[in-house]
Amino acid sequence: MSDNINRQVLVKKLPNGIPAEDDFEMGGSPIPDPVEGTFRARTLVLSLDPYIRAVMSGRHFYGAPQPGDVMRGRSVARVDASRHPQYREGDVVVMESGMQDYVISNGGDVHRADTGTAPVSTALGVLGMPGLTAYAALLGPAQIKEGETVVVSAASGAVGSMVGQIAKIKGCRAIGIVGSDDKSAWTETEAGFDACLNRKTDDLHARLTELASDGADIFFDNTGGEIQGLVMTKHLALNSRVILSGLITQYNLAESPPGPNLGNLCKMRTTVFGFVVYDFEHMRARFLTDAKRWYAEGKIKFKEDMTEGLETAPAQFSKLMHGNNFGKTLVKVAD
Ligand SMILES: NC(=O)c1ccc[n+]([C@@H]2O[C@H](COP(=O)([O-])OP(=O)(O)OC[C@H]3O[C@@H](n4cnc5c(N)ncnc54)[C@H](OP(=O)(O)O)[C@@H]3O)[C@@H](O)[C@H]2O)c1
Repeated sequence: MSDNINRQVLVKKLPNGIPAEDDFEMGGSPIPDPVEGTFRARTLVLSLDPYIRAVMSGRHFYGAPQPGDVMRGRSVARVDASRHPQYREGDVVVMESGMQDYVISNGGDVHRADTGTAPVSTALGVLGMPGLTAYAALLGPAQIKEGETVVVSAASGAVGSMVGQIAKIKGCRAIGIVGSDDKSAWTETEAGFDACLNRKTDDLHARLTELASDGADIFFDNTGGEIQGLVMTKHLALNSRVILSGLITQYNLAESPPGPNLGNLCKMRTTVFGFVVYDFEHMRARFLTDAKRWYAEGKIKFKEDMTEGLETAPAQFSKLMHGNNFGKTLVKVAD
């Protein structure tokens, strides 16, 4: 395609089950120019997130896309032409850009990327929406307290790795659950969790009984499914809190599976909190102050699963929804 084309990842057909690369196709349109009150931004790094699958099923408040639509997606982008009073050429922002090279914005739902000494891509991961999810849920509804035991699923991802690292910073024990030995090794040695179990090879019930004999004070559930059933029925402490963060085991299913038996929640006086990060925007400034300082002090490690080139986005998204990503799933689109 020629240089003045805005390359775009389009929906070809709505996926049935796990999204495949050929549910998408590359398209393009002329690079748009900003009108008064808007700016144009160039996508630098594109974020691929599990919620995009919920969007494609029409289960997200964004509404379902139609074939031919540009795929949704947030990115770090650089303003490259502006007729907006608050944004200048060169500003680096985080925004809902869609999966494309260029986007026009009126400044709504845009904020400046602010990652301190950390790479700017972390504005989409540990210092972005996923990091805020971990921080706001633990310090907000979960009311994390020193000395507690925190169990988190999908522990090597952007959300899960921050849950464990914040738990450690707050003087707690962090136990992760992941899907491979590589992830487990990174989560223990780099991210500093006390232990990390492999959901595919470990006997989770036996290992959790041994590692958290009094149960989890906080269970941060990123997956739902069998892990949720096991922890909620057998591994909760008295007065425990459960954060329902994500149900990735269900995102590719047409129908919701039956839930866990809830009797144990009553017995253990557990509080279950359905958490949505968009309700915690008021904690973003405090989160960034803390998280940038923790990063500078070497207390926050992160793992990125980044490919290069907008055209790699469909395969990266499919990999994420297979659970085969290792770290925050990103696509580098431009320098
Ligand atoms: N509530 C909120 O406001 C909010 C905000 C952001 C994200 N979330 C949720 O937080 C969770 C983690 O998000 P993230 O961005 O940090 O992603 P991520 O952890 O980097 O990637 C998703 C991970 O889920 C795990 N997984 C477990 N079962 C799976 C299955 N059946 N299919 C596919 N993957 C499976 C895989 O890890 P393992 O193989 O290691 O298990 C996979 O790597 C997601 O559920 C997401 O929806 C919630």
